[in-house]
Amino acid sequence: MAVIVDIKTFAAIGAGVIGSGWVARALAHGLDVIAWDPAPGAEKQLREKVANAWPALQRVGLAEGASQSRLRFVDTIEACVANADFIQESAPEREELKLALHEQISRAAKPDAIIASSTSGLLPSDFYARAVNPQRCIVGHPFNPVYLLPLVEVLGGERTAPETIDAALHIYRSLSMRPLHVRKEVPGFIADRLLEALWREALHLVNEGVATTGEIDDAIRFGAGIRWSFMGTFLTYALAGGDAGMRHFMQQFGPALELPWTKLIAPKLTGELIDRVVDGTAEQVGPRSIKQLERYRDDCITSVLAAIGEAKARHGLTPAD
Ligand SMILES: NC(=O)c1ccc[n+]([C@@H]2O[C@H](COP(=O)([O-])OP(=O)(O)OC[C@H]3O[C@@H](n4cnc5c(N)ncnc54)[C@H](O)[C@@H]3O)[C@@H](O)[C@H]2O)c1
Repeated sequence: MAVIVDIKTFAAIGAGVIGSGWVARALAHGLDVIAWDPAPGAEKQLREKVANAWPALQRVGLAEGASQSRLRFVDTIEACVANADFIQESAPEREELKLALHEQISRAAKPDAIIASSTSGLLPSDFYARAVNPQRCIVGHPFNPVYLLPLVEVLGGERTAPETIDAALHIYRSLSMRPLHVRKEVPGFIADRLLEALWREALHLVNEGVATTGEIDDAIRFGAGIRWSFMGTFLTYALAGGDAGMRHFMQQFGPALELPWTKLIAPKLTGELIDRVVDGTAEQVGPRSIKQLERYRDDCITSVLAAIGEAKARHGLTPAD
């Protein structure tokens, strides 16, 4: 099966939070980008989002020829995908919508173009069921902001060809991403399963009045969050076992897993809980606009990535290690 490995034209279907992030990343890598989104005013909003992301992308370093002017916004799905080498769908997370959309996208796409979906946890075998040439269809699940965070989870459905997975891994690497091939097709993949478990516990803590949303965020950002950005949970815990290592750690903290401290089942989203979360985060946001906060977040992410990259280099590692 022929799949395109070196891409020149990137198509973005859906230009919301995630789609605009893909557009910004692809433009920063010197690609031509064609976008389509059915919402009124979508083009203006997309161009504003890309402009807001651009200073951070300049700090990271733009590829030769990278320019916001290489974005073309079109009126139909067909015009968006017809000449694209790589198509990234970032439409709303509804299976029926993605099922119909991918039937249309795959009919209009070049036969050797790769089609990827940003879905957060739907199964590719399900929503590519009506796609033409499903062997070239994959999931490429990114993280917000897509133009800065390197991780993208890649997985195929039952009918995806292994060559497509290999080509997608290569293409995402060429966009300076760190693809992670998910071995099994499971709902929620890897990262969102972990994040949802944390999110459920955080909501319980708010619901029970144990902590405010800001205090819970403090518990992450001054502690585990800093470690997670370069070591993850398992290697961190291997060190927590001291010289005796991971086996000792498992013996020491195993009993706590039996208690258990966590609730696992999500709390009911009552009006009161929603109010507490919304009011709590509004207080954290304060007078800052979302665009201002995005620039603050981007500044912190680029600084953290640069600092970790330098530290890794001192230990003989690359940013992708
Ligand atoms: N927000 C996140 O943190 C995040 C992270 C990773 C993956 N995702 C996934 O990315 C996808 C998009 O999520 P989002 O957060 O960008 O949502 P969003 O609501 O910000 O954007 C969705 C966009 O799709 C457009 N749209 C509506 N109907 C459409 C259609 N039929 N075809 C194409 N576009 C259509 C909307 O106008 C909107 O601009 C979802 O599958 C979501 O699960 C989201």
